[in-house]
Amino acid sequence: MSDDAFDTIMRSLDPPMVVVTTAFEGEQAGCLVGFHAQSSIEPRRCAVWLSKANRTYRIAVRATSLAVHFLTSADHDLAAHFGGLTGDEVDKFADLAVGLTEEGVPLLTACPHRVLLRRTSLMDEGGDHVCFVGEPVDAVSSGPFVPLRLSAVSDVHPGHAADDC
Ligand SMILES: Cc1cc2nc3c(=O)[nH]c(=O)nc-3n(C[C@H](O)[C@H](O)[C@H](O)COP(=O)(O)O)c2cc1C
Repeated sequence: MSDDAFDTIMRSLDPPMVVVTTAFEGEQAGCLVGFHAQSSIEPRRCAVWLSKANRTYRIAVRATSLAVHFLTSADHDLAAHFGGLTGDEVDKFADLAVGLTEEGVPLLTACPHRVLLRRTSLMDEGGDHVCFVGEPVDAVSSGPFVPLRLSAVSDVHPGHAADDC
């Protein structure tokens, strides 16, 4: 198998970026995520894949809810904040306007396009990322938007490399 060909194909897809937030017993977490997708039409389901190296993963495995914030082409700085910093070292929410769900999951006021997921299943097939599937229990959007894509955040270096774990 050619890793180069595989990587070329995946990079060419230029996926849209999201910020996934979660919380458990008052601890908040969130990170930039490129691995995500709608995973069922009826019933509607969404999946996100979180790196075992990330603090967000460690909170998410204990949490029941995840908020998926869909970034727009104007959100580069937010992507750098959530993708370039780790909650192991800084409080990413300290200077941000956030609302809270009933479970205390932070909702980023700056992001008008988001889906709140109640986790339905989790799959760890032994790789460096774990799949979280959830039922959308709330969704808000201010209308059609241009997503922030992977190619626009190539300058952001992950706060945790996937092989940190
Ligand atoms: C372009 C880009 C894409 C990323 N995609 C993912 C992803 O799909 N899943 C994930 O768990 N982390 C992903 N990361 C890494 C995390 O966003 C990053 O390591 C973050 O600092 C982790 O923060 P935390 O330790 O507070 O959770 C990505 C980072 C970048 C820069």
